[in-house]
Amino acid sequence: MHHEVSLIATVAVSFVFAAVFGYLADRLRLPPLVGYLVAGILMGPFTPGFIADGALASQLAEMGVILLMFGVGLHFSAKELLAVRGIAVPGAIAQIVLATLLGVGLSELWGWGIGAGLVFGLSLSVASTVVLLKALEERNLVNSANGRVAVGWLIVEDLAMVLALVLLPALAQILGAQGSGAAASAAGGMPLVLTIAITLLKVGAFAVMAIFLGPKVVPWLLTLVARTGSQELFTLSVLAIALGIAFGATEIFGVSFALGAFFAGVVMSESNLSHRAAADSLPLQNAFSVLFFISVGMLFDPSILLREPMAVIAALALIIFGKSLIAFCIVLLLRFPVGMGLTVAASLAQIGEFSFILAGLGVTLGLLPREGQDIILAGAILSITINPLVFWGAEVLEKGFHYKWPSFFASYGKKRHDVLARELGDIRALSDERNRQHQLKMQQLIDTFPLFAQVDEHSQEELLLLFKPKSASPGERIIRIGDRGDGMYFIASGAVEVQLDSDPVRLEPGAFFGEMALLSGGRRTADVVAIDFCEFLVLDRRDFNMFMSRHPALRTAVSNMARERAEMNTLRRNPDKTGTD
Ligand code: CMP
Repeated sequence: MHHEVSLIATVAVSFVFAAVFGYLADRLRLPPLVGYLVAGILMGPFTPGFIADGALASQLAEMGVILLMFGVGLHFSAKELLAVRGIAVPGAIAQIVLATLLGVGLSELWGWGIGAGLVFGLSLSVASTVVLLKALEERNLVNSANGRVAVGWLIVEDLAMVLALVLLPALAQILGAQGSGAAASAAGGMPLVLTIAITLLKVGAFAVMAIFLGPKVVPWLLTLVARTGSQELFTLSVLAIALGIAFGATEIFGVSFALGAFFAGVVMSESNLSHRAAADSLPLQNAFSVLFFISVGMLFDPSILLREPMAVIAALALIIFGKSLIAFCIVLLLRFPVGMGLTVAASLAQIGEFSFILAGLGVTLGLLPREGQDIILAGAILSITINPLVFWGAEVLEKGFHYKWPSFFASYGKKRHDVLARELGDIRALSDERNRQHQLKMQQLIDTFPLFAQVDEHSQEELLLLFKPKSASPGERIIRIGDRGDGMYFIASGAVEVQLDSDPVRLEPGAFFGEMALLSGGRRTADVVAIDFCEFLVLDRRDFNMFMSRHPALRTAVSNMARERAEMNTLRRNPDKTGTD
């Protein structure tokens, strides 16, 4: 194949295979992601037939992770993240430590060194974002308290992995690494404390930027672009912000793409335009997250199932039973309910992207034997496939608990859960209220100015951004005859008088004025004076021209009104013309 088309080939074949096998999986009543994984295995180097470019596929998969995490961030506020910290931080840390220890124990049994055990254990201890989110989405749990806790937990795991990825090379020698990778890492190494300090400093700097600067800059940028009225530019900017922050965060602050993208979403969620950003990025998100599963499938060498069946089973048991049991116990120990423990446990009973990165790094550093990487991959692909079953098991267990120990089930952890749910509910209510206010404003706009009912919702939203509010007191002259036209006025409340040679014309809420000079490019044709306390929405000349050029029907309606007014004025000035009629 020509080298130049390998990207297109990878994307095209991935989409075609994923669509076909996803559909087949659905027909077999399996989750579509099983189909995507199979498609990936078929496209990988370990099976005959088409072999896609693995490096490209994994980069495309990373795009999927970025877009997905961005999407979650859009529906997550920083406050919610803080609300779940009491359970997510201790939970994730304890789980990583315990699951890693289990991994070390297992690898000791196989006679691997401590370094290999550590990489192996760490790899098994982190769950995949993509899989977790898909699972929560499918069950409509993302917005529930349990879902919030699971996602918060995952974010902490993500942060811990940033540290792990930085520390591993620094610690490689001490951990007994062999091979060139270890030597290289040791040669360029700096004191461990310094490495940790720099990493923490970078992550801290990123957090400060994300919390303080982001919420100011990003919504402002988005509004700026939305005011241009170009849909295409808006979608592009949303993606530019998501991918730009993700990439920048990785390059500058050393945090993962996923984490960068998540915070890009969180800061954007502060904007009124966040729902539009979410809708715009969803199709890409769906398409690219499929590529994630393909790339996992491609890495998988099925022969490991025959070479090391026991090791794979042991790793899988650790992921599915060990990790979930640990998570479940931690949740209960923190005095949260059984139901939450089961949801969190099922959510985390799988491994994915971080595990591959860690395993890859472990092999490069000479810490992890190659079969360790294969076992981790097998563990990942099997645990991802089985994950829906684990959720089903958790539901059965929940029902069982409920049936067997109804009073314990109902009362244990209820207090803490209720406090958390209330806090999350308040945060949600606040953001719902904000959305409602926004909707109300849009509705009011159309109610007051039926003229705008003829433009679509995006354009109405754009108008809200373009309008500049202005007020006037009784007697104040708003427009002076003979001046240049600088804007068009919509009366939201109060009343004005257009002072013509003959009787003045009174205009009330819902009416507009100042359009004639803008349309003709000439001078104001009359004085307009406020006769009450007035509130106006003003569209300045530049925005008027831009908006009207994109909405010809609206321009025609306004022009017709201006023509009628001009005719009326002419008639009033020369009443004799019609006097004979
Ligand atoms: P413009 O000429 O820009 O500034 C004065 C405004 O008064 C004018 O636009 C119209 O919007 C408004 N106006 C002029 N004549 C009438 C009329 N007969 N009835 C209502 N409004 C008018």
